[in-house]
Amino acid sequence: MNYFITGITGTVVPVIVEDLIRKDKDAFFYFAIRKDSKGNDIQDRFKAVVESLNLDKASKLNLYKQSKLVDIDIEADKIGIEPDLYDELVKNSEKILHGAADVRFDQPYEAIRMPNVVFTQKIYELFADIKKYRKTAGKSDATLYYISTGYAYGKYNKMIPEDYPEFHPGKPDNTYAQTKAEAKIFILDKIKQHNDRIVIFEPTIIGGSAKTGKTKTYNLHYIVIMLGYLGKLPFLTSHKNQLDIVPVDWVAAIISDIMSKNEFHQGAIRMASGKDAVTVGFLHDKGYDFYVTNDPVPGHVIPKIRFVPRWFFNSMVQVQKRFYQMMYLCTRIKRYRKLFKGICLLEGYFPYITGYKVFENSKSLALINKYTDCGAAPPLQDVFDSNGHLVQKGYYKKIFVDTLETGWGGMVDFKRLEKKTEPFKSPQAAYSATRK
Ligand SMILES: NC(=O)c1ccc[n+]([C@@H]2O[C@H](COP(=O)([O-])OP(=O)(O)OC[C@H]3O[C@@H](n4cnc5c(N)ncnc54)[C@H](OP(=O)(O)O)[C@@H]3O)[C@@H](O)[C@H]2O)c1
Repeated sequence: MNYFITGITGTVVPVIVEDLIRKDKDAFFYFAIRKDSKGNDIQDRFKAVVESLNLDKASKLNLYKQSKLVDIDIEADKIGIEPDLYDELVKNSEKILHGAADVRFDQPYEAIRMPNVVFTQKIYELFADIKKYRKTAGKSDATLYYISTGYAYGKYNKMIPEDYPEFHPGKPDNTYAQTKAEAKIFILDKIKQHNDRIVIFEPTIIGGSAKTGKTKTYNLHYIVIMLGYLGKLPFLTSHKNQLDIVPVDWVAAIISDIMSKNEFHQGAIRMASGKDAVTVGFLHDKGYDFYVTNDPVPGHVIPKIRFVPRWFFNSMVQVQKRFYQMMYLCTRIKRYRKLFKGICLLEGYFPYITGYKVFENSKSLALINKYTDCGAAPPLQDVFDSNGHLVQKGYYKKIFVDTLETGWGGMVDFKRLEKKTEPFKSPQAAYSATRK
């Protein structure tokens, strides 16, 4: 099978490709890829991705042979694909996986609309050209697989429904959710207008692998856990709220099964923990115990986070944000601007923690059971039966171990923290990297 794939330099798509290689021995891939801002060209970027994959040497060599890079520029006509290559793609591709998106939560709407909405529209144009070609050439129908997000539903004060083919999103939590909702509406309209073979995947929060605990990016809950470890989050709220985190290997296994088995071609599959999602309080309590017991920095004290009412927490965040903004305006000290921006980024994350987000997933679970070799999402937390016996052990410890092994992907410098931990010094500047 020939696949056209976007998002190969991201977090999720490489894991899907790893699986597809194992499941479809005849796979050939066209990878849409662009140069990066550091000047790395597409070959270098692709090489870095392949080398990072969990594949043996022979499989990596095969992947080089079984793939072709497609240089893209999403602002240009036909995504900037050179005309001959575009024709080749139309003639040769049968399946498109559109997994690229700008997943930042603090971007202005005008900026993020291009990668999340316009890019999706352009991918659909390519899909429409492939569809047309295959119809006239008497070939099997093409399928488009689009990765949306459960959070495209925005604010909901009841369980977030599995309402395909309907979709009535609430007020968006941020511009990411807003543009992902816009893209989903576009895709649903195409399914309704043309009865297209399009599958929409709706993962919730994708976390580290359930097998290894490893992840490529440390966003959202990772940042909140990191701030807790550094003592920079004295207060939090919504102890009982659920965080719907699903492991990346489970998400990848479902998507690659759906694509390679080639039996399910239209509809939406939500990938959620649903009612089994972990609570903020559970993660905090287990995290606190784990980091206190395994702290690699001698003498570093991890303060316990105090859980406060939501209104109090939100007001404190606003006061702090305004304080740093004023301090920057008065003093022009860059540190204040960094702190102000840090809070703005966290504000994008907080609705996921402070808001009620519980996802229906029974219809999707039935589809997952029917069309894939997967079952329900592996739980992040320990699961107890009605008699209080531990029946399933969660994988949260693997996630915590990975954060200490990698220093949250390089964001925490334990050596620097150790120096700052000397008496009377605060751990203020122990994390340095700014989030993407
Ligand atoms: N991660 C999650 O928790 C989560 C949850 C639910 C749904 N999703 C969805 O899953 C998909 C993959 O997410 P992810 O976490 O893997 O994201 P990611 O790590 O940020 O990767 C994003 C990918 O999109 C590409 N991309 C972004 N903007 C682009 C542009 N303007 N032009 C070309 N390529 C562009 C990136 O390429 P560059 O490297 O060139 O920037 C990268 O390959 C997304 O559709 C996301 O909405 C993710």
